[in-house]
Amino acid sequence: MQVKSSIHIILFFLLVGAFNLSGQNSERYSIIPQPKVLNPVTGEFVINNQTALLVNIKNDSWKELADNFAAQVQRVSGIEIPVKDISSPHFGNTIIFKNVENLPTEGYKLFVTPKIITIESTAPNGLFYGIQTLYQLLPVQIYGNEKVSKKIKWNIPCCEINDRPKFSYRGIMLDVGRHFMPKEFIMKLIDLLSMHKQNIFHWHLTEDQGWRVEIKKYPKLTDVGAWRKETTGYPGTPGDGKPHGGFYTQEDIKEVVEYARQRYVTVVPEIELPGHSSAAIAAYPELSCFPDREYEVPTGWGIKKDVFCPNAKTFQFLEDVFTELFDLFPSPYYHIGGDECPKDRWKESAYCQELMKVLDLQNEDELQIFFVQRMNNFLREKGKKTVIGWDEILDGGSVPSTIAMSYRGHAPAMRALSQNMYTILAPNRWCYLDYYQEDMEKEPKTQALFLPLRKVYDYYPVSDTIRAEKQKFILGTQGCIWTEFIHTPERVEYMAFPRAIALAEVGWCDKQDKDWDLFRKKMLKGFQRLDRKNVNYSKAFYNVVYNFDRKSTFPKKVALTLDYPETKIHYTINGKEPTRNSPIYSDSITINKNDIIKAKGYLKNGTQIGKMNEKRF
Ligand code: ACM
Repeated sequence: MQVKSSIHIILFFLLVGAFNLSGQNSERYSIIPQPKVLNPVTGEFVINNQTALLVNIKNDSWKELADNFAAQVQRVSGIEIPVKDISSPHFGNTIIFKNVENLPTEGYKLFVTPKIITIESTAPNGLFYGIQTLYQLLPVQIYGNEKVSKKIKWNIPCCEINDRPKFSYRGIMLDVGRHFMPKEFIMKLIDLLSMHKQNIFHWHLTEDQGWRVEIKKYPKLTDVGAWRKETTGYPGTPGDGKPHGGFYTQEDIKEVVEYARQRYVTVVPEIELPGHSSAAIAAYPELSCFPDREYEVPTGWGIKKDVFCPNAKTFQFLEDVFTELFDLFPSPYYHIGGDECPKDRWKESAYCQELMKVLDLQNEDELQIFFVQRMNNFLREKGKKTVIGWDEILDGGSVPSTIAMSYRGHAPAMRALSQNMYTILAPNRWCYLDYYQEDMEKEPKTQALFLPLRKVYDYYPVSDTIRAEKQKFILGTQGCIWTEFIHTPERVEYMAFPRAIALAEVGWCDKQDKDWDLFRKKMLKGFQRLDRKNVNYSKAFYNVVYNFDRKSTFPKKVALTLDYPETKIHYTINGKEPTRNSPIYSDSITINKNDIIKAKGYLKNGTQIGKMNEKRF
């Protein structure tokens, strides 16, 4: 025993000692999110015509994953990997998907040696993630839908990986209410999330400006509520004169949910209540407190005052809607919105005021809690669902057993923790992916805050001040893509990527395992993968970014950053085009009025990276 373990230690140092993860190795093992434990080892496994894949073929989930892996390899390489039962004899060059006990549900171990690859996991979720890692270790041409014409060696570098996520909830939300996005794009987004081990797609399906899901009992929701006559945007902008709309049929939803199931992504539907419900009210005015008034699907953004009335008709309607959704979304989580519900109509309504007296409620915030409580009871009892709501569900009292999605900073999450309630962190300043990632003056208009990639990467949902026994109530984190200014799938991709990939690492890694320098090196491969998937990602990574106090009318200092690794920034402040002879940026620059800073990034070998960026102060 003693001798054997000494030999193991010597072997380990012989094989592992020569490596560290900087430089070459970040290219060899560009795995995003970073595995918990990754031991680099010399040598490589090569997929070829002799390769076989062994799996327990009687286990449907495992067999499906094996078949999908073999199909993808064949699609791009033409190599046919036979999928055989795990009991079959094997003679080298074999990939084995092995079911072991006691690993976390989403955890896996991956061992790559020149002859054998083994992925061990307990649940299929872990196997799926082991396979995602395997894809990332292969040449990037493994991603894509067509056979690669060039002769490519399908090699996988040897390694030992023991991996598992830090958080169980790792999500991205897409608002399809403000702008409808076709189901094909939803599937593409889910695919991109899953390859980075994100496991939640939060589908914001209803909004003031559009109801997007077919409900058979209420056809006007989509006949009327899914269409607006034009888009006017925020007050002060003229309408575009173009009708906008669209919705998902129940068959579409089933297709998306099935697609997500195969990628271990849970699709969490959101039906906004009681606020953000004007489109439903335009379809069925009786859901409002004033059914005789005229309603239309709003054309502009902002918080609308026409909200669901807490009456029997509305509750029946919502229960009917959720009952249809139960057959479509197997998710254990259902999101019921709860944010930004103005109380104007409830204050105006004699019915609401009377109801508050009968229920002994002090104010309209408590009436909202009553509303949420009622829906929560229904979803828990009839649907066996756990309810998520935006953090207003903690205003006016809280609803036990719900999960607060903390978006107005961290304070709501702290309030949830103080009551031992579960929470998900989506604080807008770190997680709203509709904010700018490059200079606002150069980018198409979007929501006014600045959220560069580095800030997203540096986010961590558990602050050091949270006591250990409270930390378990933090389920994870979520990026949110609101689409007031995002009109097309291409634009969603631009805003989401690469920031969604940074968030994937935030949700997967322990705080001490995050490493920005390593992440940006790995992103060089990360972008190649996105290229293979035809993703229209932002190129801010390649350009110098200007960092200064954006709240100040005249900031005195500006810091220049460039995400692209191992670069130098050359700049001028006299309006001249920078060259490699211009000053090298090292520390923040003190600026005077009318200074024009022009800056470019260069690699060590003198190659320019990205474009020249300039800014006048
Ligand atoms: C939100 O940003 N209203 C959730």
